[in-house]
Amino acid sequence: INSDGRDGPLAGKRVVITAGPTREPIDPVRYISNHSSGRMGYALAAAARDAGAAVVLVSGPVTIPVPPGIQVRNVVTAEDMLRESSAAVDEGCDVFIASAAVADYRPETCAGDKIKKSSDQMVLPLVRNPDTLATIAARTDAPFAVGFAAETTDVARYARDKMQRKKLRMIVANDVSVPGLGFNSENNAVTVFWPEGQTSIGPESKQQIADRLVALIGEHLDRAAD
Ligand code: CTP
Ligand code: CA
Repeated sequence: INSDGRDGPLAGKRVVITAGPTREPIDPVRYISNHSSGRMGYALAAAARDAGAAVVLVSGPVTIPVPPGIQVRNVVTAEDMLRESSAAVDEGCDVFIASAAVADYRPETCAGDKIKKSSDQMVLPLVRNPDTLATIAARTDAPFAVGFAAETTDVARYARDKMQRKKLRMIVANDVSVPGLGFNSENNAVTVFWPEGQTSIGPESKQQIADRLVALIGEHLDRAAD
């Protein structure tokens, strides 16, 4: 990969990447979220930029710096993530990579005032959030869609099932039952699946994995969809 990416594998391509967690408000001071650091998505954004792409990063709340040369659009909730991602794809998108850890459910309502404690138990009704990746991949003008799957058991089976269900061209699976790898950690090891093959990457740094994923996407991009 050369320094300005002009001859890189994604030269002239537009790439949209989701990253980080979402936050689903319970009341004005509380929310439901998860431990996603955003590091994998931010590393992918830098890798895609170095490969010559114009990159839009749709990011949930994280504490890491935005890599230079990346356009970032900050979001909070899963609904924001769908809206901003759809808008970014509307502007033109060749590759969509969903690395965000989106909350599957949100509180049915956000209380207007801070909730006071009362009884010993509390039940909070939750409703399903929209799926950004599945929505983008189902568009008639769908980009090359890449998903992530963090699993603790039956990694290959669940990952391939998600790829089929969401109509993805590629899915990056990581086994989050391995301590010190993946979620909120520096290093990662992944297995990448596509309809007719698979390859394993790592354990190595998230930036090294991101570079190899972007190279792999570049190789598959111009192949016809099944
Ligand atoms: N994803 C998304 N929007 C959601 C949920 C997931 O865009 N509301 C994306 C993630 O960014 C990831 C992929 O879908 O790329 C798979 O996420 P995952 O949580 O593993 O899959 P789910 O379909 O939510 O299934 P489950 O959590 O039940 O395993
Ligand atoms: Ca999920």
